[in-house]
Amino acid sequence: MYLCSKLSILMKDYPQFISSESIRLPNEGKITCTSPSNIALVKYWGKRPVQLPENASISFTLDACKTITSVSYKKRDVVSEDFDFDLLFEGKPKPDFKPKIQRFFERIEKYLPFLKQYTFTIETSNTFPHSSGIASSASGMSALALCLMQLEKKMHSDLTDEDLLQKASFLARLGSGSACRSIEGPITVWGSHQEINNSNDAFAIKFPYKIHQNFERYCDTILLIDKGEKQVSSTVGHDLMHGHPFAKRRFEQAAENLTKLKGILSSGDLHGFIKIVESEALTLHAMMMTSLPYFILMKPNTLSVINKVWEYRKQTGSSLCFTLDAGANVHLLYPDSEKEQILDFITSELVAYCQNGQYICDKIGLGAKML
Ligand code: DP6
Repeated sequence: MYLCSKLSILMKDYPQFISSESIRLPNEGKITCTSPSNIALVKYWGKRPVQLPENASISFTLDACKTITSVSYKKRDVVSEDFDFDLLFEGKPKPDFKPKIQRFFERIEKYLPFLKQYTFTIETSNTFPHSSGIASSASGMSALALCLMQLEKKMHSDLTDEDLLQKASFLARLGSGSACRSIEGPITVWGSHQEINNSNDAFAIKFPYKIHQNFERYCDTILLIDKGEKQVSSTVGHDLMHGHPFAKRRFEQAAENLTKLKGILSSGDLHGFIKIVESEALTLHAMMMTSLPYFILMKPNTLSVINKVWEYRKQTGSSLCFTLDAGANVHLLYPDSEKEQILDFITSELVAYCQNGQYICDKIGLGAKML
């Protein structure tokens, strides 16, 4: 029994990601990386400590919506017990982001033993408006994780690209779960799933099967319905799944949907895709409506857009569909081949439902990179 629990604690430590102390610590320098946001097709909603998902999720990595982060590092003369970092967001100090980074550093210190040896200045900015209701934690945490891994590479030059990306995803996950899915693209899976080879809870992997050309150049136009502050933080949201009356069935359903989506992504079945993706979006919101406390994160305009999309699909036979994050904004997903007609539809019929008429055109992308 003792052995068993000791073993499981060890397993949770992920020893493969604990790097040895390096004797070759660079003195100072600056690393800049960029990482995109991602949009889940099968949603991650519900987690267990530390930041491990209750079900496997799959997402499109985005391209235009991204964070650009620079990490300047300078070796400290005297190493203290505290992390030493400053944070600038769009060129200005941002004290309210610091606790999140502090927590992130505490969680990843074991895996990056050099962190306390440096003074860091982290400068970060997003290509999308901060108050747009687009979650910046996925792009932000993955960009920072990749910067730190590039620094680690300077100490361990034998680190392969594959190992570097894998550990960047592992670290990003400890910052924000969905962030681990942004390191690579175009489609990534996070969470252990019986039918997806090498899938696991610790880091995301590239979808390891052939993707039908129908999905190769998918577009995502994000309608900014409500740019207000998030009503429910993701941590509080995930917590609502503990003791949720439908949680168990939901986690099973997510696994079933991922199995179906695996086949659909390979066969190119656009109708099948729409059914799973829209059902996942509505299920995510249904989970929030049926938890205690309960929340409605959609706004009247979210519902109007959904109805318009359904009407448009009925009239035109289009493959346009929607998905939602934990908020009111609507992500419109469609194949590149329909782009012209759908952008016409958006500008003529849907922009009216967007706050200040704002929307963002994005598409599937390839993940984080060093600049
Ligand atoms: C609704 O990754 O933001 O976007 O792990 O607490 O940082 P934390 O949560 P977060 O949750 C994202 C939830 C979601 C669905 C998804 O992206 O899969």
